[in-house]
Amino acid sequence: MSLKLGVFLPNGQNGYIISENAPQYEPTFEHCLAIAQEAETIGLDFVLSMIKYHGFGGKTGYWDGCLDSVALATGIAALTSRIDVFATVPVLGIPPVIAARQLATFDEIAKGRGGVNLVTGWNRPEYEPMGLWPGDKYYERRYDYAAEYVQILRGLWRDGRVTFKGEFFDIDDATCFPSSGRELPIVTAGQSTKGQVYTAHYGDYNFVFGDRDLLPTITKPMLEEAEKVGRTVRTYALFTIIAAETDEEALAKTEYIVSGQDTVALQNVAGSAALDPQTGGTSAHFVQGLTAPAEEGNLTFMSFPVIHGSYESVAEQIATLQRDTGVAGVLMTFVDYVPDIKVFGERVLPLIHEKLAALATV
Ligand SMILES: Cc1cc2nc3c(=O)[nH]c(=O)nc-3n(C[C@H](O)[C@H](O)[C@H](O)COP(=O)(O)O)c2cc1C
Repeated sequence: MSLKLGVFLPNGQNGYIISENAPQYEPTFEHCLAIAQEAETIGLDFVLSMIKYHGFGGKTGYWDGCLDSVALATGIAALTSRIDVFATVPVLGIPPVIAARQLATFDEIAKGRGGVNLVTGWNRPEYEPMGLWPGDKYYERRYDYAAEYVQILRGLWRDGRVTFKGEFFDIDDATCFPSSGRELPIVTAGQSTKGQVYTAHYGDYNFVFGDRDLLPTITKPMLEEAEKVGRTVRTYALFTIIAAETDEEALAKTEYIVSGQDTVALQNVAGSAALDPQTGGTSAHFVQGLTAPAEEGNLTFMSFPVIHGSYESVAEQIATLQRDTGVAGVLMTFVDYVPDIKVFGERVLPLIHEKLAALATV
């Protein structure tokens, strides 16, 4: 199947839903592993875990707990055999030479199925308490910092050693052996103008928020820049999946979750995002998410647009995404992960396959 489908692992407390009317849970390895194994069983392509060092509180304690992403991904990689596994690395938190080695070890355990979601960190209240916030100029400079970071990573993976003199890093013959020579695929997720340019130059996969109408416009600047520099970067879109027997049932479930939204945690997410002066990026999207309809990305679902409907309708909406928006893949979140993924495999995925095959012959 040319459309790649993956699961965003809920390794932060309560996953990607900020509502009292959704399952409440602390993240555990057991849960995330069960999700990854179910995703592998039904034939999905990848799982990705996130990292958050400071949560958003409220009644739901949203993201107040979070499992370390690289350790988690490594454990999952050891206990799966086919599915690709992406770990998230925060460029402010881990020096690049150390991260390169951690990720190379993870990739060895994953037998070449490893990848990395490299995040710049948009959130001062997350990094300041740890003494890791470099000052508010970082909002402007974070992609310049990440650009140097990613060159060091790639150099170490490719050659096993690197010397790099930049504005932010001064590395003199650092090594990363043993070296498989494999450069791990890099996910980036910047939607701001600078984020798009950075992604075009350094990313392999561009993960974006946006409903199906907005997706082509959102990804256009990145694709144009990538073409200019002769790189191929694939766009993956984020969606929350709420599928049921009927459209009405799925809509009711979606509305029920929104009606139980944790307003304190939502305000904390939006307040944190509002500190970011970058325009047109994720932070602005989060603030807009306070009032956006679920289908366009309400903040109750971390501003991931919700694809809801009957199994047939959800399959149709997913299968036509590539044709209508040009995305190469979808990163999905679920309400009750393990059972929902199982049902997705039984009721939705076969229909997606059928519909994609039919579209391919048109
Ligand atoms: C799929 C996806 C995963 C992300 N994972 C993380 C994460 O684990 N930790 C984090 O701090 N930011 C994460 N982010 C945020 C992005 O890395 C990025 O900082 C954010 O989108 C702001 O970039 P922008 O202002 O250029 O849009 C994620 C974003 C997306 C779309």
